[in-house]
Amino acid sequence: MPRVTPRPLLDTYGRVHRDLRISVTDRCNLRCTYCMPAGGLAWLPRSEILTFEEIERVARVAVEHFGIDSIRLTGGEPTVRAQLPELVERLARLDVDLAMTTNGVTLDRLAAPLRAAGLRRVNVSLDSLRPDRFAALTRRDELDRVVAGIDAAVAEGFDPVKVNVVCMEGVNDDEIVDFAAFGRDRGVEVRFIEYMPLDADHAWQRAAVVPGERIIERIGAAFPLDPLPHGSEPARRWAYRDGRGTVGAITSVTEPFCTACDRVRLTAEGQLRACLFSLEETDLRALLRGGAGDDDLAAAIATCVAGKWAGHGIGTVTFVQPPRTMSRIGG
Ligand code: 5AD
Ligand code: SF4
Repeated sequence: MPRVTPRPLLDTYGRVHRDLRISVTDRCNLRCTYCMPAGGLAWLPRSEILTFEEIERVARVAVEHFGIDSIRLTGGEPTVRAQLPELVERLARLDVDLAMTTNGVTLDRLAAPLRAAGLRRVNVSLDSLRPDRFAALTRRDELDRVVAGIDAAVAEGFDPVKVNVVCMEGVNDDEIVDFAAFGRDRGVEVRFIEYMPLDADHAWQRAAVVPGERIIERIGAAFPLDPLPHGSEPARRWAYRDGRGTVGAITSVTEPFCTACDRVRLTAEGQLRACLFSLEETDLRALLRGGAGDDDLAAAIATCVAGKWAGHGIGTVTFVQPPRTMSRIGG
C-alpha cells in the first residue's frame, strides 16, 4: 500500500507525466548506423549502472509519489542485461502497464521467461526485411533471429506486439509497403518512426526524414486505410479497411507531439531526463547512493520535470543535438 497520496508530476506547461522509461543497460548486440558508431561505444563500467534494487526504488517512488502508471524498459538493448526477468518480476509488483522496447535478437529465447515474469507488451525495432540491408544497417547478420523473436512474442501472448521501423529516405523507404504486408500477415502493428537527430555520427539530415504523411499515403495506395481517433499518444493510427489490423506513424519531426508528452527517462547510470533531447540531467544515482530518503528522491524527480522545456525544436536554429546517442538515453 502506498504510504503517500500521489500528486501529479507536472511541468510548467501543465503536462502531467505518467510514463517512466527505464534504460537498463547502455550495451547493445547490434550497431545500427543511425544510433551507434561502427566500433561501438565504450560501455559503462558495471559499478556505474544502477542495480535492480536501485531501479526498483526509483520506479516505486515514481509510482507511489506521482502515480506513474506506465513503465517501459529500454537500453541500449534491454535483453543483454543479465537476469532481466528478475527485474521484470520486481517491477510487475508495482502493478503498472509494463512494456519493453527491444531489437528482438534474443526474444526467441526470452519471450517466455519475460512473459512469465509479468511483462505485458513489447515493441520490436526492425528497419529492413532484406537480409543484406538489415546486415548493413545494423552491422550484424541477425534478421532471421529478429523475425523469430517477433513470432515468439506473438506466440507467448504479448498483446500488442508492435514493430518499430525508423524510415529513412534512400535507405529503407522502398520497403514501406513490404513492412505493411509483414504487419498484416503476422498480426502485429507496424509503426513508422521519423528519423531523429540522435545518431552517434551526427550525420542526421532533414532530407533523410520521410514524413509520416507520405508513408501513410503509400500504404493507403496499396491497402486502403481508415484513420483511427487520435488522443494524446504519439502514434497516429490507421485501420486497414479489410479488417487486417492497424498501422501507425510517429511523426516526431514533422508533427512533434511535445505538447502532449507524458514521458520521463531514467538512463542506465541513474540520470533522469525530462526529454529525449534534454541537455541537462538530474543525478538520481548520487541520491540513491548517498543515503537519500524517498522524499528526497521524489523532490529531485519533481524538480527535474518542472524544468522541462516546451519541446525539442528540431529544425530550429537553436536546436542542439544532445551528446548522448539513443543507445545511451533509452527510447
Ligand atoms: N531516430 C528515430 N528513432 C530511433 N531509434 C533509435 N535511434 C533513432 C533515431 N535516430 C529507435 C529505435 C527503437 C527506438 C528505441 O528508437 O529503432 O525503435
Ligand atoms: Fe542497438 Fe537500438 Fe542502437 Fe540499434 S538502435 S544499435 S538496436 S541501441
